[in-house]
Amino acid sequence: MPFTDIKEDIFERRESIVRSYCRNFDALFVKAKGSEMTDADGKTYIDFLAGCSTLNYGHNDDDMKKALIEHIERDGIAHGLDMYTDAKAEWLKAFEDYILKPRGMDDYKIMMTGPTGTNAVEAAVKLARKVTGRTNVISFTNGFHGMTMGALALTGNAGKRKGAGTGSVGLTGVSHLPYDGAFGDDVDTLEQIEMMIENPSSGIDAPAAFIFEPIQGEGGLNAASKEWMKGIADLAKKHGALLIVDDIQSGCGRSGDYFGFDIAGIKPDIITQAKSLSGMGLPFACVLLKKEHDIWKPAEHNGTFRGNNHAFVTGKVTLEKFWKDDAFQKEVQAKSKILTEGLQKIAKLIPGAKLKGRGMMQGVDVGSGEMASEITSRSFEKGLIIETSGADDEVVKVLVALTVPEETLRKGLDILLEAAREASDTVKVAAE
Ligand SMILES: Cc1ncc(COP(=O)(O)O)c(C=O)c1O
Repeated sequence: MPFTDIKEDIFERRESIVRSYCRNFDALFVKAKGSEMTDADGKTYIDFLAGCSTLNYGHNDDDMKKALIEHIERDGIAHGLDMYTDAKAEWLKAFEDYILKPRGMDDYKIMMTGPTGTNAVEAAVKLARKVTGRTNVISFTNGFHGMTMGALALTGNAGKRKGAGTGSVGLTGVSHLPYDGAFGDDVDTLEQIEMMIENPSSGIDAPAAFIFEPIQGEGGLNAASKEWMKGIADLAKKHGALLIVDDIQSGCGRSGDYFGFDIAGIKPDIITQAKSLSGMGLPFACVLLKKEHDIWKPAEHNGTFRGNNHAFVTGKVTLEKFWKDDAFQKEVQAKSKILTEGLQKIAKLIPGAKLKGRGMMQGVDVGSGEMASEITSRSFEKGLIIETSGADDEVVKVLVALTVPEETLRKGLDILLEAAREASDTVKVAAE
């Protein structure tokens, strides 16, 4: 049956209209490997979306696949609630050896949460409130933290907030303050935030926590400076609040370091992780918390799917394969330079366009959602999967796998350049 018939016959008839990515990438995908996806007609696309940073190590990595198949074939545990399993022990040990110890983070514990990022955010905020006995959480403009009610309350995006129902029902207990650069490069938002927290008449209740993304993924690839991250960490400490860093999209190497906040040298009280933890797109989220905050009573934060054993198996491979030493990290940093150069060429085509982001989480603010969508839809026609982000979807955002071969990266950037050239001509003609 041709794709258009399948689409009408089942997806449009049966699947909720809430679906989103499939609207921009209108094809029936049947196969994926590395940084390429193939549709039912045999057309191959370069994947500059990588499951929105879930496939940092590409699709179907051979070593992860092999380890998972072996685990399943020997009837290894698939689901065990949060019981002790060999797969969990091995992942925990590898995470300790390759991530925590080399960063001097031996004083953190790991809490398994429900399997998606939003579950980790919920757990982080609940814990900060329990530890401090306070309610208010400071989150930031353009921040995105997930779709469950607590995480949505922290999220700035109006469209997503509307999804909660009438008005802002239930989206409470949060104060939204300006992220780094929110008023442009010349305004230091740290000073403003300090004033709001320190002025007892600002209307901001004493915070339980500050939560920020080191690089805002959905909010337009705004990258916080080291100084700003450090400033927020100091402010949290000074005011008895916990620092939560939401590293769900910027983590697992995406920024060029394992954690998106590594460059700031801070030690957050709580860190949320998800997306690329499993490395194979299997759902897996967790919270890293300083030992002194581990005050939960057993089962006080529970859930059926905490700790996905298949994800432990593939996640362990990611740690052993990519994080045993700094070779991969250096490779990622070198690739991010190629990415910057490619995006600079695109920015030059569009008046007023500017580069956003950091590491392998970069893009171009092309000034309007219309222009960005023109570029991404033309890219898709030419065989490149790429998304937009930002308050008005004005940023063309590259989230290609960190393992992308240099040749594929350059090929994708060439397609993007061509699409941007055509789009800027079209928008120019329309404006004349
Ligand atoms: C920074 C950040 N936090 C939380 C989430 C929510 O994660 P999930 O979609 O897995 O619930 C996302 C998802 O994009 C994210 O980018």
